[in-house]
Amino acid sequence: MILDASQPGSVKTAAEALARGDLLGMPTETVYGLAADADNDAAVAQIFAAKGRPTNHPLIVHVADADTIRRYAKEVPLFAQQLIDAFWPGPLTVILPRLPDAAKASTGGQDSVGLRCPSHPVAHALLLACQKLESPVWGVAAPSANKFGRVSPTTAQHVASEFGDALLVLDGGACEVGIESTIVDCTRGVPVLLRPGAITRDDIERACGIRPLSKEEMPEHTPRASGTLLAHYAPSANVRLMNAKQIQTALEIMGKDAANIAIYSRARMLTPAKSVVLRRMPDDAHEASRELFAALRDFDAAKVKLIWVESPPESEDWEGVRDRLQRAAAA
Ligand code: TXA
Ligand code: MG
Repeated sequence: MILDASQPGSVKTAAEALARGDLLGMPTETVYGLAADADNDAAVAQIFAAKGRPTNHPLIVHVADADTIRRYAKEVPLFAQQLIDAFWPGPLTVILPRLPDAAKASTGGQDSVGLRCPSHPVAHALLLACQKLESPVWGVAAPSANKFGRVSPTTAQHVASEFGDALLVLDGGACEVGIESTIVDCTRGVPVLLRPGAITRDDIERACGIRPLSKEEMPEHTPRASGTLLAHYAPSANVRLMNAKQIQTALEIMGKDAANIAIYSRARMLTPAKSVVLRRMPDDAHEASRELFAALRDFDAAKVKLIWVESPPESEDWEGVRDRLQRAAAA
C-alpha cells in the first residue's frame, strides 16, 4: 500500500510500523530503501528474505543525526568525523567499527557498521518520529528496495511493483540523487571508497584532507558489499556500453531490421528502424544519475532485449553513473 507522506499522520503510521517489526518502503534522497528496525533481528531477517539477499551482506543503518552514531559505533576517527560534519545529512555512508552488541543481524555479523543520515525531508521526519516513540527505534536498516542484483527504485511505484501491494510504502516523491550513497570505509586508518556516488573523491579530499583510496588499493580488504559485486543493478535486458560511433555504426549495419533495441546516449543517434527506442542521456552528471535507474526500468517496460548505452565521460563527476552502468553491463 502506498501512503502519501504529505498526508497528516502518515509519517507516524510508518514509524509505528517499523516499531512493530514490520517492513516499510521509505524514500531517501538517493534511492528508496526497504526499511526495518535495525535492532530487531527478526524484522531485519525479513529484509534479507524479501530481497533474496545473502544474510551475510551487511545493511546500512540510517540515523536521524550524528549523535546517534554512538549507539552503533565504537569510535569515530577524525577524518570520518570531518566527512560526517561536511556531508550529513546527505548521500554519504561511513563504515565504522561496530559496538559488539549493536545491530548484529543488520551488519551481517561483521565487526563494522555502515551508518548514514539521509537528507530527504520525509526520511528525516520518519527517523525523528522513530526516536520519539514510546520504545524508540534508533536505527533503521535499509538496503535499496529492489530484489537482489536488480535495479534500485527511485519512486514509490517502483517499490510497489517490486514487492507488491502488501508492503507499506511511504511515498516521498521521486529521488533527487537517483543513485545510491557514496560509501567510505573509515575502519582502515584512511578513507577507502567502497562505492562511488554523488559525493566524489574530490569532495572527500576537500573535507578531510586525505585522498580516498580505491578498494583495489587495499587488496587484503574485501568486505561483503552487494553494491560492489561486479554484476549488479541489472535490468532484464542486456546492457552494453559503447562509444557513440560504435552505436551509430551498428545501427547503420542493421538498418531497417534493427529491433528490440534501446539506445541511451548523449549523442544524437539516427536510425531508419522505427522500433528502436532512442533516449537521450542528460549531459549533466547529476541529471543523468537522477534518471538512470528509471530509464533502465522504462527500457525493460518497453520489452527491448538490448540496451546500448553510450559510455559516460571519464571525468570524476560521472564516476557513480559509470560504476552503475559497468555493473549493469556485467550482468
Ligand atoms: O543510498 C543508499 O545507500 C541506499 C539508501 C536506501 O540509503 N541504500 C543502499 O543499501 O544502497 P544497499 O544495501 O543496497 O547497499 C549498501 C551497501 C552494500 O553494498 C553493503 O554491502 C554495504 O553498503 N555495506 C553496508 N554495511 C557495510 C559494512 N559494515 N562493511 C562494508 N560494506 C557495508
Ligand atoms: Mg542495493
